[in-house]
Amino acid sequence: METITTQGVAIPRLGFGTFRMPGADAQPVVESALALGYRHIDTAAMYENEAAVGAAIAASGVDRSELFVTTKVWHDQLAPDTLRRAFDSSLRKLGLDHVDLYMIHWPSKEMDMGATLDALTALRDCGLTRAIGVCNFNLPMIRHAVEAIGAPIANVQLEYHPFLSQGPMLAYLRSKGIPLTAYAPLAQGRAASDPTLAALGRAHGCSAAQIAVAWLLNQPDVIVIPKAARRESQRANLEALGVRLGDDDRAAIAALPKNQRFVRPPFAPDWDAADS
Ligand SMILES: NC(=O)c1ccc[n+]([C@@H]2O[C@H](COP(=O)([O-])OP(=O)(O)OC[C@H]3O[C@@H](n4cnc5c(N)ncnc54)[C@H](OP(=O)(O)O)[C@@H]3O)[C@@H](O)[C@H]2O)c1
Repeated sequence: METITTQGVAIPRLGFGTFRMPGADAQPVVESALALGYRHIDTAAMYENEAAVGAAIAASGVDRSELFVTTKVWHDQLAPDTLRRAFDSSLRKLGLDHVDLYMIHWPSKEMDMGATLDALTALRDCGLTRAIGVCNFNLPMIRHAVEAIGAPIANVQLEYHPFLSQGPMLAYLRSKGIPLTAYAPLAQGRAASDPTLAALGRAHGCSAAQIAVAWLLNQPDVIVIPKAARRESQRANLEALGVRLGDDDRAAIAALPKNQRFVRPPFAPDWDAADS
């Protein structure tokens, strides 16, 4: 599996998402993904499946050194002491002695960004996580974290798929050498029934969903974490690693509406905030 190295850590370009698989249901699904060859698993305290993910890892027999495990702290746990307790709880549930990437799941209006990022960095410095990152920060927030605070951010996770542009964000992150992880890469399943993607899939002998995953994987500095409970979809998404799109395919996808954001909780930041 191809990797992207950031802050000295190699991240497999295709990972496995685990949102909306709470509790023990996640264990056989993650075991299946690991058996098929996924080596990058994305979970979060909020998904309520860290224990199941940990059990799947233990049952898989895959050497820990071959795995890349991400988990995340929820936005009401960002005060440094609280964050440390949340981290310890995640690690205990996962049954691991470290994670590979620990991320802020969503920013909070109340957080002291400097103190929160210092607390994350302290976890990295003592080896409890190999890297730190943020999810769902808008561009001014990321600039502040990287340039004013100087946090060693290895990865930024954002909603990104054929129906949502991340152009300015990608340009900024590339200028700083930070890869973007595309979450909801299938627009939470909608990509599978899109007529444009389906037509491209027919031309390539694959599915609409595989075209969506391949479109992201074909972009430099982008990591992709589709979730699939069904084994055939897990396998199909892995096979998208072998799909190569041409300029005409990219033009067809570029013509799709690019303003469709499907993950819109009330606590989301202002995505249109001006970048000063
Ligand atoms: N940081 C954040 O705030 C954040 C937010 C959202 C998501 N995430 C992460 O990103 C991951 C992916 O996002 P997501 O789960 O929201 O949505 P997604 O990966 O875009 O879509 C998942 C849906 O697509 C279906 N699917 C998967 N592969 C398919 C295929 N080859 N053909 C047809 N259908 C397919 C799945 O069906 P089945 O499951 O029935 O197979 C599921 O219904 C999450 O699981 C999570 O780890 C992070």
